[in-house]
Amino acid sequence: MIVLAIESSCDETSSSVVCDNIDCNKRILSNIINSQIHIHSKYGGVIPEYAARNHLDCIDAVINQSLKYANVSLNEIEIITATAGPGLIGGLLVGMVTAKSIALFAKKPFMAINHLEGHLLTTRLCYDVEMPYLTLLASGGHFSFIEVLGIGNYKILGETLDDAAGEAFDKVAKMLGFPYPGGPSIQEAAKKGDKNRFYYTIPLAKRAGCDASFSGIKTATRLHIQKISELTEQDKFDIAASFQNIVSSFILKQLKKAHKMTSSDIKNIVISGGVAANIEIRQKIQEFCLEQNLNYYVPPIELCSDNAAMIGWAAIERIRSGYCYSSLNAKTRPKWPL
Ligand code: KG4
Ligand code: ZN
Repeated sequence: MIVLAIESSCDETSSSVVCDNIDCNKRILSNIINSQIHIHSKYGGVIPEYAARNHLDCIDAVINQSLKYANVSLNEIEIITATAGPGLIGGLLVGMVTAKSIALFAKKPFMAINHLEGHLLTTRLCYDVEMPYLTLLASGGHFSFIEVLGIGNYKILGETLDDAAGEAFDKVAKMLGFPYPGGPSIQEAAKKGDKNRFYYTIPLAKRAGCDASFSGIKTATRLHIQKISELTEQDKFDIAASFQNIVSSFILKQLKKAHKMTSSDIKNIVISGGVAANIEIRQKIQEFCLEQNLNYYVPPIELCSDNAAMIGWAAIERIRSGYCYSSLNAKTRPKWPL
């Protein structure tokens, strides 16, 4: 099976050729990503209108490049797939219309994929991870703990009640004057900071279950900043380190609770989404897994953030599990829960 995939739900235009090869190293034949970070960074966040226009400008070139890099012709592609949602409507429409047009022109089947399912299954693209497994899915717009019981069989154990973790990283970075995206900026600044300087209370301390909340941490950070009359570079590093410390400790605490809530005796822990690139979060979860004798899986950093290979792989997983192709009338869905 060989798939051409398109991802354009936020600020990366990506196209990938993925195949169902038993040799894991050869599954991704190409994964071209055109990032728009340079366009949005000066605004401190993604401007949807600019994002959509930029997807439109570069999508043809990105697709051509992915076919060329993979060294396959359109004729050799068996399925065309694209992210149908959730995400920003303008970008999603560009990807969906392009993918449907190629499918129609080349007389190939089309498959609409849920972006979150793409993140959720990325680890299986890289490693042989058996289901069921427990996933922390943490990106710019989503935060949840999910028990993956089978393809299309996802049990949400808990999710954020307000902001996503990535959103909190982005907003705190903006408060500190660091560039967008906030996650990598905060992580870099935190290396030079004192993580114990600023005090935070742990969110939802008395609440049962593994839901999450990041808006209180965000507000506490704003208050810490407001109390300092002239913010020095060192103050910023210390705030970044203290913020990253509370977020990663809180995520670990909730992950432990999520693990206790799983219906089966889960041995595999997976983290996915852009925030899974965070070194401190990765380390804390890895240490917990080592202590508890659990298997820990995380995609390589470049596959944590948005990319089309994860969409192509989700299509392959769905087809292998007996799901049907989508019709060319498949809807673009800015809101699409798993
Ligand atoms: O999955 P993703 O690329 O896009 C969405 O589907 O949202 O995630 C993007 C998010 C951004 O909020 C970004 O700041 C965050 O992932 N992120 C990180 C790191 N790298 C990216 N957050 C924390 N630490 C990082 N190293
Ligand atoms: Zn994403």
